[in-house]
Order: sequence, then structure tokens, then C-alpha cells
Amino acid sequence: MEKTYLYKEVAERIAALVAGGTFRTGDRLPSIREMSRQAQVSINTVKVAYSHLEDQCLIEARPQSGYYVCPRPLELPREPKISQRNIEPQGVSSSKLVGRLMKDILDSEKIQFGAAIPDPALIPAKKLGRILAVACRNHALESIGYATAPGNTRLRSQIGRWMLKAGCTLSADELIITTGGSEAVFLALQVLCRPGDTVAIGSPIYFNFVQMLQLLKLRVIEIPTSPTEGLHLDTLRNALKTNKIACCVVISNFDNPMGSCMTDARKQELAEMLAGAGVPLIEDDINGDLSHCDERPSVAKAWDREGNILLCSSFSKTLAPGYRVGWIAPGRYMEETLHRKLVSNIASASPTQLAVAEFLANGGYAHHLRVIRKAYAIKLAQMAEAIGRYFPEGTRVTRPAGGFTLWIELPADVDTVDLYSQVESRKITFAPGRIFSTRGKFRNCLRFNGAFWSEKNRWAVELLGRMAKELCMKQS
Ligand SMILES: Cc1ncc(COP(=O)(O)O)c(C=O)c1O
Repeated sequence: MEKTYLYKEVAERIAALVAGGTFRTGDRLPSIREMSRQAQVSINTVKVAYSHLEDQCLIEARPQSGYYVCPRPLELPREPKISQRNIEPQGVSSSKLVGRLMKDILDSEKIQFGAAIPDPALIPAKKLGRILAVACRNHALESIGYATAPGNTRLRSQIGRWMLKAGCTLSADELIITTGGSEAVFLALQVLCRPGDTVAIGSPIYFNFVQMLQLLKLRVIEIPTSPTEGLHLDTLRNALKTNKIACCVVISNFDNPMGSCMTDARKQELAEMLAGAGVPLIEDDINGDLSHCDERPSVAKAWDREGNILLCSSFSKTLAPGYRVGWIAPGRYMEETLHRKLVSNIASASPTQLAVAEFLANGGYAHHLRVIRKAYAIKLAQMAEAIGRYFPEGTRVTRPAGGFTLWIELPADVDTVDLYSQVESRKITFAPGRIFSTRGKFRNCLRFNGAFWSEKNRWAVELLGRMAKELCMKQS
């Protein structure tokens, strides 16, 4: 009897510490031995108490690591609705704001809630460095020579194998290595479009794509996106009927910035609709490996029967943005894409291709993903909770099931560019909503890079929330 009473008491004490915030989501609890000493109970009593808390999904055991506080069903703000629906084609206007943001990214003193860069603490930098050094020693001539496009064969084979998990059968011959995912998408746009052509894009969309469209003098139809379902397919279907569209650009998995992920059925519908209309799709899957659960989602390319989809990705979000290793599977546009790649820069850097190929083959990429997926899930949950706590009433926040960005919709009268100007001197960055549109929409929205969330940076979310509240009050 006494033992039953004791384990419950210990469990209740720990639950109270979690509820009171002494132990937060992701924190490691004291080991069984430590807890037994602290609570002055037997090891067995603590074991039973921990197992009781596990049953309640309050804590979880991680092999060879200990017990950790689970993400709780949080009190989260509501989710944003589907983005605006005006879809007239328009030219793209330049955004000085992006220039400002890119400058701030280089400022290491700033808290990087701005750019979507991974948490350096979650990159196996030393291991990658060792692999790089060994690969360059073992393949000295290859490492200093051109890895002429299509690029390192072993790397292309490894990517082909990996993408089986996304439902794709890609051989090395169907892939070209690029300098990051950016080059992959830029090449695809250049292959498919001529100045003045119209491109349909998901909206909001990653701001660098907006810049590319502007540089290539393209006209754009912004297709609304829902944070839960992704691209609005009926709107795209109507746009295809009434416009001559050169191609469509979609981030199908955990899109940047909203984090939406299209279901298999919707990916299939998208692939078939575009194939039927004879419109190629540039599909960006850079966040596909960052699903917050164990399985990664499929890509629309899995339903591509005619080589109509140009699938683009990179290892910038999962391994190392500085390695600049990306790739494209350009389908039936292989020849033109290869030609453009060769003409523009012959090859991407050889050493990092060697290193990523080795990491994929023998470096434990799957294990690495398991660790970072969990970490990003916890970071986003905690950050969303903090936003709910500090931001003005009526603020909405997305709940992505992958990636590490959060999209926040503030009350309609707050201009997040004003907010950006106010916090620039306070060593914080974020990405104002307007840069994710070709026509300056989303002025009351912003994107946070949740990879840089930590309790240490809570003050920054609190400060931003306070300033947003002040802006709200000024407007009313
Ligand atoms: C959706 C998306 N595609 C492409 C890129 C660019 O990736 P890379 O650094 O590999 O060029 C990013 C970077 O943030 C992104 O978010």
C-alpha cells in the first residue's frame, strides 16, 4: 500500500513541476538514481513513477539518454485561414526589404528568427568535417577536379535511393547536382519560361523565388494556399482555363513559409491536372525530409508519368546550407537543364558532393533526421505557445507537421514592416510577410524561423509581441 502511495506522490510532484514550468517540453528529467536520492525513495518507486508518467504521455524515455518531458497539447492561438484569393496575373515588383533581410542574416549578433536556416547545434558539423577531410584524402584528384554536370555519380545514386522513400524511382541518370536548391529552381524557371510568360505559384511563397521571377521578367498568378491543405487546387484549375501558363511552382511538403503539406491524393490531383493541361510543374521538396513524424511524405513527382515535373531539393535544411549541395530531377527537360547548368557554371563544388555522398551512404543520415525532426517539433510547439502568450489578441499561428518555420497572422491593422524597423536596433530579425508575395500582400503577417527558438531567446518573442501590441493600440 505504502509503495503505491509513494510512487503516486513522486509522479504528482513531477507533474506539478512540469505544469509549473520548472521542467519544460524537451527538458531532461533527473535520472532515476538522482530522483531517488532527491525524493528519498527507492529506485524502484521512481521507476514506477516514471512509467506512470509515461503512460500519461507526460514524459518519454529515450534510449540511452534518459527521461524527457513530452510536447504537451498546448494552448495555441488559432491557425491562419487560406491566403487571399485575388489571382490576376501581375508583374513582380522589386523588394528592397529582401536586401535588408539578407544583410541582417550576416549579422551574427542578431537572433536569427528571420532567415530559414537550421539550428547550427543540430548540424553534425564535426562529423561532416571529418567525412569531408577523409573523402578528399581518399579521392584527392576527384576532389580538386570538376565534378562536371550532371555531377558526382555516387551522390546521384544515393539521392535516387533515398527518394524511394518519397515514392519516386529516380536513377542517377535522371538527376543533376546543383549549387543548392536555389540553383535547381532557377535553372528550371530558365528552361521553362521566357520574359513576359506567366507562372502560377503557391502564395505566400519563399521570398527568393519572388526575386527570381522578377529577375526573369515573368508575370505571376498567385494561387492561394491553406496552412493545412496547401495549394488551392480549384483556383489553379480555373487559372489554367483562363490563362496561358508557362509553368507552376509549388513547395508540396512543409512549404516555406506556411508549412502546409499536401496529401497524397492532392499531390496526385495536382500532377494529373498539370499533365492534362500540358503545364510543367517545378516541385520544391527541400523540407520533405523534415517531417515531424517518422515517415517522410511523398512528392507529386511520384505520380509523374510523362516527365512533366521538375523536382528540386537540397541538403541545406537537413545537413549543411554552406555545403551548397542541391539537385534537380528535371524529367523530360533533362537535356535543356543540363545544357544550362554546363553553360552557367560547368559544375558544383566537388569536395562537398563527395562528403554528402559518403554521409548518405555511411554517415547515419536516417538517424540524424530522427534527432532533428523531434527537436524541431518541440521547438515549433514551444515557440507557438510563446507567441500565443505574448502577441496581440487575434493573432493566428500555423501548426506545421514538418520543417521549422512558423507563419503568423497579426490583427489586420499591424504592418510587420513597421515592426521590423522597430526591432532592427534590438538585435532581432524576422521575415515580414510582404516579401513572400509578388505584389506586397501579407502586410500583417510574418515568418519566424523556429530553428532558433530556445528558452534563452524567449525574451525576443516577448519583446516582439509587446511591440506588436503597441502598434495595434496606435492603430485603434
Ligand atoms: C523552399 C525553399 N527552397 C529553396 C531554398 C534554397 O535552398 P538552398 O540554400 O539549398 O539554395 C530555400 C531556402 O530557404 C527554401 O526555403
